Amino acid sequence: MTGPVLETQSLTKSFGGLVAVDHVDFTLPGGGLHAIIGPNGAGKTTFFNLISGFLPVTAGRVVFHGRDITGKRPHEISRLGIARTLQIKSVFNGLTVIDNVWIAAKGQSRFLHPFRPASSYTDVAREAEALLDDIGLAGHRDEIAGNLSYGDIALLEIAIALATKPKLLLLDEPVSGMSPNETQRTVEIIKNVSKRLDVILIEHDMEVVFGVADVITVMTQGTILCQGSPDAVAKDTRVQEAYLGTPEDEEAAGA
Ligand SMILES: Nc1ncnc2c1ncn2[C@@H]1O[C@H](COP(=O)(O)OP(=O)(O)OP(=O)(O)O)[C@@H](O)[C@H]1O
Ligand SMILES: [Mg+2]
Repeated sequence: MTGPVLETQSLTKSFGGLVAVDHVDFTLPGGGLHAIIGPNGAGKTTFFNLISGFLPVTAGRVVFHGRDITGKRPHEISRLGIARTLQIKSVFNGLTVIDNVWIAAKGQSRFLHPFRPASSYTDVAREAEALLDDIGLAGHRDEIAGNLSYGDIALLEIAIALATKPKLLLLDEPVSGMSPNETQRTVEIIKNVSKRLDVILIEHDMEVVFGVADVITVMTQGTILCQGSPDAVAKDTRVQEAYLGTPEDEEAAGA
């Protein structure tokens, strides 16, 4: 299929008087890892919420692979191939690692169909095992998810998202709160995943963003300030001023 993977047209979300996402025209050409950066409150998570149907849009459109998905419910959008992780970690804490992934994989298949052959049960199980392997959690297969380290919970969330077989994966600050080792490991996995499917990553860690992203979009105050290669974005004086702060700001902040 030609054309962009994802497009938003004048996408807008207001919360009362606050316009969190303000007439955003965004194009994701696809192929590679796309990062969205921007200061706290820029509207990044809200933007994901609109794309994934978690929040109704105030105005504008979301088009995914040429199909208007505006106003569709989260589960419909998930079935069409968009998966996301949340900024606040959410797994089934009381279940094992493998069961968390298995449930997500099962939810996506037409599992309850009476004529579905029994072999499909083993297909789902096999997929779940393979995913755990991919994501580096096979060694924690039978652990209770709630007992995992913070970094492993974040990886499990990615595995759960991947179990729905998305074409596009939205990751909201996947490495926030991780140790440097966990971050490095997770970034490697995200890089590998982005070779197989389109990934949009919201991230505050500039080292991570500028190390892995093919294209970076900078959001401020609900709008897109600029979009381009890491080099182009790093050189953009508007970004330095609006996002990274002027040297005077840093002095004022005691940095
Ligand atoms: N459900 C909501 N109700 C009211 N206001 C909201 C809601 N969700 C977000 N906002 C507001 O919308 C603005 C954008 O928030 P959003 O969470 O999208 O920012 P963000 O770029 O993800 O920030 P951060 O980097 O801190 O995660 C903020 O001013 C926030 O307070
Ligand atoms: Mg956010």
